[in-house]
Amino acid sequence: MNTPSPQTPSTMKTPTPTAAENSTALATSSWWQHGVVYQIYIRSFADGNGDGEGDLTGLRSRLDYLATLGVDAVWINPWYASPMRDGGYDVADYRAIDPRFGNITEAEQFIEEAHARGIRVIADLVPNHTSSDHVWFQEALAAPPGDPARERYIFRPGAGDGSEPPSNWESVFGGSTWTRVADGEWYLHIFDPSQPDLNWEHPEVRDEFDAIFRFWLDRGIDGFRIDVAHGLIKDMAFPDVDGRTDLLEAEHPVDHPHWDRDGVHPIIRRWRSIVDEYDDRMMLAEAWVHAERLPLYLRPDEYHQAFNFDLLDATWSADSFGRIIGRSLDAAQAVGATSTWVLSNHDVVRHATRYGLPNDLAWRRWISDGPTSALDREVGSRRARAAALVTLALPGSTYIYQGEELGLHEVADLPTDVLQDPVWERSGQTERGRDGCRVPIPWTEEGPSFGFGADAAWLPQPTSFGAQSVEAQDRDPNSMLTLYRAAIALRRSRFPGDLHLTFVEMGTDILAWMRGDDILVVANMSPSAVAIPPNGDVLLASAPTLNGMLPPDAAAWIDIQS
Ligand code: GLC
Repeated sequence: MNTPSPQTPSTMKTPTPTAAENSTALATSSWWQHGVVYQIYIRSFADGNGDGEGDLTGLRSRLDYLATLGVDAVWINPWYASPMRDGGYDVADYRAIDPRFGNITEAEQFIEEAHARGIRVIADLVPNHTSSDHVWFQEALAAPPGDPARERYIFRPGAGDGSEPPSNWESVFGGSTWTRVADGEWYLHIFDPSQPDLNWEHPEVRDEFDAIFRFWLDRGIDGFRIDVAHGLIKDMAFPDVDGRTDLLEAEHPVDHPHWDRDGVHPIIRRWRSIVDEYDDRMMLAEAWVHAERLPLYLRPDEYHQAFNFDLLDATWSADSFGRIIGRSLDAAQAVGATSTWVLSNHDVVRHATRYGLPNDLAWRRWISDGPTSALDREVGSRRARAAALVTLALPGSTYIYQGEELGLHEVADLPTDVLQDPVWERSGQTERGRDGCRVPIPWTEEGPSFGFGADAAWLPQPTSFGAQSVEAQDRDPNSMLTLYRAAIALRRSRFPGDLHLTFVEMGTDILAWMRGDDILVVANMSPSAVAIPPNGDVLLASAPTLNGMLPPDAAAWIDIQS
C-alpha cells in the first residue's frame, strides 16, 4: 500500500468552487424526491417461520431496525404468488402474496406498521411479463392457435417451415426469446421461458393492470417500482437484431424492436393518471435507456422518478464519479425531476466487492471467470464506507440495498448446485448470475443462519457473515452500520432540502462539493492523504482522520466554519 503523503499546499487549504453547477435551488418537497429508500429482497431479509426463506413475519419483526436506521421508505422486491423461477419476477397472481412470504392480511398489517413508524412502502410491479403459471398463460396454452386466449401474449408461427423461431432475438438470460409449444406456435419471452411477455396492445391487458394498480393503492402502497419499464411494446413485425441485448446496459440502439419504443409512453400516462387519483403516491421506472431518452420517461405526466444506474458502472476515480454526478443532476433538473443514486441492488455484484477489484477488470465477467486473487476485500470495504458518505451527501434520493449498510460483500463462491438464478442454466452454466448478492442477512454473530431465522438459509451464508452481523456491528462505534445510521441522521438534520451542489477543486483524484453554505463533502480517491481545510470541523468520516489529513479511500463531511 502507498504511504499517505500530503497533497501540495496549494491544493490543501481552502477549497475553491469550480462552477455553479446544478445551482437551481429547486426545492424538494415530496418524500420521494429526497428520501433514503431501503431495498428489501424479502426472500433474504428475515425468516419468521423458520423455513429458510424470508417472509412478512420476519420483516415485520425487523421494522424497528429500519426505523433506527432512519430510512424514509422501503422498496420490496416482488412478493406476489410466484413459482420463483426468477426470484418472484415471474408473477402468477398479482393480487396474492406468495404463501412462502405470508398473505394479504399480513401485507396490510405490514404497510400499516411501516406507516406508523413514518416509513413509506414501495411495491415492485412487473408488467412486461407474467409467470407461465399465470391463469392467462395457462388458458393460452390450453387454447388452439388463433384463439383469443392467445392474444394476451405474443404467439406466432415459426419462420421457414415453422420450425425456426419467428426472429433471431436473444433473451436477456441467454438463448432465444422464443419457445415453441406442442401445437407448433412460438411465444415470446424476453427473459426466461417461464416469463411470457404480455401483449400490451391488448385492451384487456391494459385494463387488468389499471385494476392491479388500484388494488395496491387501496391497500396503502405509497409507490411502485416498475420493472423493465422500457419493455412492454414490441415491433410486431419482429425484425431481426444484431447480437444479444443485456438488460443491464443502456446502450441499446435507437429503434430497437423491443426496448424503449415510443408506444410505452401512452401506457405510462395511463398509469400516472390512476396514481394521481391518490394523495402523494409515486411511480419509479427501472428503465435501461440512453441518457438522452430517459427524460421522456420523466415528463410531468409520466414517471416521478427513474433509476439512475450510472454509478453502478463508475470506476473508483474522482473523474468517473464527478462526471456521473454532474451529468445526472443536470439531466434530472432539466426535466424538473430529482436524481436517484444506486450503488447496489439485487441484480449486480455488491459494491464492496466491485470496489475491491482493479478498475480495469469488468466485474460482470469477474463474477463468473475470476480470478479470485484480483479481489482486495479490505480496499473494497474501505471504499464502500467512503461511497456511503458520497451517495448520502447527494441531492435527490438514495437507494440502499439490504446488507450494504453492513458492508456485505458478494458471495462469489456459492457452490454451483445451490445457484437459482435462471442465468446460470440459460447461459449453459457459464455465467453464475445474481445469487451472490442475494444471500440472507446475518442478524446475529452466531447461531443457525446467523439469526436469519432458519436452521439453514435458502442460500448458504459464509462464516464471515457473523462478524458483519447486525448484532456485532450494533455495539461497535466504528462499524459500517453505525456509520450508515449516523450519516442518515446527519443528512436529515444538516443537509439543505434543495438540489444545490457546488463542486470544489481540492486536487487530483479528490471529489469534493459543498452542500449549502457550510457542509463540505470530500472523497479522497487518490493514493495520498489529503488535508482537511483548517477551518473545518469533521462531522463524520469513513476512516479516522489524523493530524488534519483524510486518508486514501475515505470520505468525510466537514462543517466549514466561517
Ligand atoms: C428486472 C429485475 C430483475 C429481473 C428482470 C425480469 O431487471 O430487477 O431481477 O430478473 O427485471 O423481470
